[in-house]
Amino acid sequence: MRNDIEKILISEDEISRKTKEIGRQISKEYKGKEVLVVGILKGSSVFMSDLIREIDIPLQIDYMVVSSYGTSTQSSGVVRIEKDLQHSIEGKHIIIVEDIVDTGLTLAYIKKILTGRNPSSIKICTLLDKPARREKNVDIDYAGFEVPDEFIVGYGIDYAEYYRNLPFIGALKRSVYE
Ligand code: IMP
Ligand code: MG
Repeated sequence: MRNDIEKILISEDEISRKTKEIGRQISKEYKGKEVLVVGILKGSSVFMSDLIREIDIPLQIDYMVVSSYGTSTQSSGVVRIEKDLQHSIEGKHIIIVEDIVDTGLTLAYIKKILTGRNPSSIKICTLLDKPARREKNVDIDYAGFEVPDEFIVGYGIDYAEYYRNLPFIGALKRSVYE
């Protein structure tokens, strides 16, 4: 598994420090508010489980599963909801947690759908931001790290469903997916 990694881009330590920082910021900004943290499965699952334990205010969590049509390394922008939220989000303060924003198409779609359900507010938190291939502008409120235009895996992020269990963020060798 580790032999397929070209280089480690972000270490476990760096991830942990950044997660604490974002958690502290969210705890401060959402004090006294009704917060629902929405994770986009499966990529955000590892980050989200660490992040919520760094948030020191009452909150609820829920998950969505979306699939975007396209090839394994390229998203098409056509998104389908495979699993929706369990409860109404009306009047709640939503924080969407994503693993990586690439073209921005997936998040733009999710944000539009959720905005239509009358929450009090919606913010976006992503562990990684890959601005090089952005097609749709999305406002990212909390971002962990900017990454270069390479294929990223680890810490929840997959290639063909593998590598999610790597504890760091790495760039996958081109030979693995080309
Ligand atoms: P977007 O719609 O292009 O912004 O892509 C969103 C989704 O594509 C992310 O949530 C990831 O699941 C996946 N994705 C984008 N870039 C990468 C990558 O470098 N490695 C693995 N998955 C990626
Ligand atoms: Mg994802």
